[in-house]
Amino acid sequence: MSRPRTVLLTGASGVVGRAILREEHAGRLRIIPAARSAPVPEATEPVLHCDVSRERFGLDREDYRALAADVDVVIHSAGLTEWGLPAERYRPVNIDGTRHVIDFAEQAGATVHFVSTEFVAALLPDAAGTLSDGNICRNYIESKRRAEVLLEESGLPHLVFRPTNLIGHATTGWTSRGQIVQQMSDWLRRGRAPFVPVYPGIRMDFVAQDLLARAIVRAIELDDDQGTFYVSYGPEAMDVEACLRTLAKHAAGLGRTFTAPPLRDARALDPAEITGRDPMTRMYLAVLRDVGEVTWCSGGVLPTSLPELRERYGLTAIDDTAAYAASLAYAAEHLG
Ligand SMILES: NC(=O)c1ccc[n+]([C@@H]2O[C@H](COP(=O)([O-])OP(=O)(O)OC[C@H]3O[C@@H](n4cnc5c(N)ncnc54)[C@H](OP(=O)(O)O)[C@@H]3O)[C@@H](O)[C@H]2O)c1
Repeated sequence: MSRPRTVLLTGASGVVGRAILREEHAGRLRIIPAARSAPVPEATEPVLHCDVSRERFGLDREDYRALAADVDVVIHSAGLTEWGLPAERYRPVNIDGTRHVIDFAEQAGATVHFVSTEFVAALLPDAAGTLSDGNICRNYIESKRRAEVLLEESGLPHLVFRPTNLIGHATTGWTSRGQIVQQMSDWLRRGRAPFVPVYPGIRMDFVAQDLLARAIVRAIELDDDQGTFYVSYGPEAMDVEACLRTLAKHAAGLGRTFTAPPLRDARALDPAEITGRDPMTRMYLAVLRDVGEVTWCSGGVLPTSLPELRERYGLTAIDDTAAYAASLAYAAEHLG
């Protein structure tokens, strides 16, 4: 049997990092978990504390050289993932951090598996629409796209995974941290949404985090060194009505009634209908509107590589509605 591939996993303490560490790989990978400061309960190797925004990840020359001599593959999952921040806030981690990963991979002779975002589709030259400057996700997306371009220009062997919004584990709903989909669903379920801003025909495309983790692990096991994958359901994703029906079923399971809020065409909304609300309502309505705009600019139905991912990496079919229901149940029980 060939020796296990040594993998440096940046962002090991994050939602994606921890899902990757929980993924089965039958000893074929040795994963070195790297995080800035947060704990990594799933780690089976000592956690490498480092800061990707710094040269050599902030490590001393000797440690950095030894690490590079050891590593075959980097999964680059560290990132600043919060939306709505000024562009300059994303640069140190999302752009400079990727540059430092590239420097490292060049020295190590390693392949890079980069966790980007589906949302970059809204900024590509063939996007179906123009994303507004004030879109809450825009600066984040631009930083992720810039990181992709750095990798493209580096000439390094690399894969890009572009996941849409992640939810918990497909069957258990487990997540190390509540995700925006779960938080917003809870807000909707509690009847706090005065309306739901939607773009016509868009789909609610959520992916179980273990599906993404499995694709990345399988790609490494197969020694793949190129490819760009949209990790999303595309035309298979739930429509808004199916999403609201799942939420109603979930509410009924909790012994609550849920009345779906009215749907409003996001394109015809007066901004004052959002800005005049309390801070939480304002924030969630803006997220719904702006994520809807991202989807709209990506073609309404998100681009997907799921058929290819299923075939190449043997991913089993996961029903997105069932996975969403599992995530709602997990969040209700464990995330308060
Ligand atoms: N979650 C989603 O729904 C989703 C969807 C699409 C794409 N993505 C992409 O997937 C990647 C992982 O997302 P996630 O949800 O796992 O994010 P997350 O839960 O917010 O975790 C971010 C990770 O990055 C690390 N990190 C941040 N700044 C760092 C620095 N300067 N140096 C070293 N590590 C640093 C954090 O370490 P500490 O905890 O120690 O600070 C943490 O491990 C991101 O790049 C994101 O763009 C996520």
